[in-house]
Amino acid sequence: MIAPSILSADFARLAEEVRAVEGADWLHVDVMDNHFVPNLTLGLPVVQSLLKTTDIPLDCHLMIEDPARWAPPYAEAGAYNVTFHAEATDDPVAVARDIRAAGAKAGLSVKPNTPIEPYLEILRDFDTLLVMSVEPGFGGQSFIPHVLEKARAVRRLVDSGELRLVVEIDGGINMDTIEAAAEAGVDCFVAGSAVYGTDDPAATVEALREKVIATEQAARR
Ligand code: DX5
Ligand code: ZN
Repeated sequence: MIAPSILSADFARLAEEVRAVEGADWLHVDVMDNHFVPNLTLGLPVVQSLLKTTDIPLDCHLMIEDPARWAPPYAEAGAYNVTFHAEATDDPVAVARDIRAAGAKAGLSVKPNTPIEPYLEILRDFDTLLVMSVEPGFGGQSFIPHVLEKARAVRRLVDSGELRLVVEIDGGINMDTIEAAAEAGVDCFVAGSAVYGTDDPAATVEALREKVIATEQAARR
């Protein structure tokens, strides 16, 4: 799956920018509160408007403090997947339960230097693991390869049937880096600047998808 991030879109023309990535699997929406990360983007009212303008499932990535309070409303509004950060709460399982009860898939995200081992046990309460491959806060940063170890570890647990979840990666994904992420067993690829920095975002989404398919075919040979 390819999930274009509208963080790199023109916020004054959001509806048009969403139409420009027709064919995307998920639409990745970065919510930042200027506390958990040193940047401020958009919140629930904009997500509610986006839901009216597109049928692409919304993948809300909450880079915010106090997700127990702020995450469930995104699920109630109709977001498909609501992901919050492991570093932002002491009780991730409770937050996941509330998101699911409100009708969305629940995702857990870890920053590049946050180990995954302490969370392996609770991943059975989640639908998505979002591995950050840049420090959260800004688009256009360089991919950090060492995070792929975490994707590989969780992929193994999914393949062995111990876990059922979507492994998603976010940050610095482009035509050069997506191959390594695909080899590590990632299912869903977020791409912001790589998609919106091109003249034809929909074609770039397709090109990224083709690259993943080619990588998977080569691995099977
Ligand atoms: C960063 C955000 C990303 C961002 C990725 O904090 O979570 O979703 O949009 O942007 P690129 O693809 O440009 O690294
Ligand atoms: Zn994101």
